[in-house]
Amino acid sequence: MSELEKLRAELKQLNSEYTKIKDLPPEERGDFGRKMNAKKQKLLAALEQAEIEAESIDVAPLDVSAPTNPNQSLPHLKVGTKHPLMTELEQVIKVYSGMGFDVMESMQLDDEFHMFDSLNFSKGHPARDGYDTFRTSEGFIPPAHTSTMQHRALKKYKHKLDEGDKIAVVIPGRVFRNEDADATHEHTFYQCEGVFVSKDANMGQLFGILRQFFESYYGEKLNLKTQPGYFPFTEPSAEFLIEKPASLGGKGYLEMGGCGMIHPNVLKMAEIDPEIYHGFAWGGGIDRLAMLKYDLGDVRYFESGKLDFLEEF
Ligand code: DAH
Repeated sequence: MSELEKLRAELKQLNSEYTKIKDLPPEERGDFGRKMNAKKQKLLAALEQAEIEAESIDVAPLDVSAPTNPNQSLPHLKVGTKHPLMTELEQVIKVYSGMGFDVMESMQLDDEFHMFDSLNFSKGHPARDGYDTFRTSEGFIPPAHTSTMQHRALKKYKHKLDEGDKIAVVIPGRVFRNEDADATHEHTFYQCEGVFVSKDANMGQLFGILRQFFESYYGEKLNLKTQPGYFPFTEPSAEFLIEKPASLGGKGYLEMGGCGMIHPNVLKMAEIDPEIYHGFAWGGGIDRLAMLKYDLGDVRYFESGKLDFLEEF
């Protein structure tokens, strides 16, 4: 019989002896109980130790927190670097956090309601087709834009309005579109959504926030331009463009995303009264920000897994 089996048998025996307590005179029961419990505690501790020892036989200890030494034990492994898009995404979050925005995480699988209905796309609206959405066989949708998070953001932070505060949140996330990839389009890319709601939110504040964001991100003054756009979830809607920063070769405007005043129906669906509160929202691509910053000609490099490209960052 192994040590472990012996201890287990002893414990079983001890447990069965507890029944003796009922045959004892009442004044002796307390003392008996205390002695039995003390014995049991000892036995349990020995058992625990024996179990650990039995399990660890022949298993060499492994320090999972030990740093790897790529030159010594695993010469074929190289120490990785952070993906450039993650570095940019963190930078984007840092700028918005510094401006007082809350940050919420987006989802990689969403549903019809958040992708369309909650954003005021009526059933059968042709704009639904414009988003080239993928669908799983179960009917889920990998989000085609981070706007799928607007409804959740409004609901999550609505309490702030009741407290006399405003909603100011950004939601970075990965998005997916079923379209052909070329130098400026990828099927998988990153966006950052912004949602702002207060009693007096207006387009002027929206453009002020956008300009401040771009100037902080690129670290220099630049011009922002808007042109009319159409999105079912904003009215009015606009597209925003920035002038290429002078340090990055100057001249010409680049489209960076869409924005507008949040449609009253979107606010209503999140149980926010559009008669009292107004909001604006915007969304833009992070890959595009990074392409401009590093003067890259082809967005496909980011998802290509080409190590010689990724190692440059
Ligand atoms: N989700 C839109 C897109 O990917 C961009 C956008 C437009 C986001 C207007 C917004 C908005 O929040 O208000 O095409």
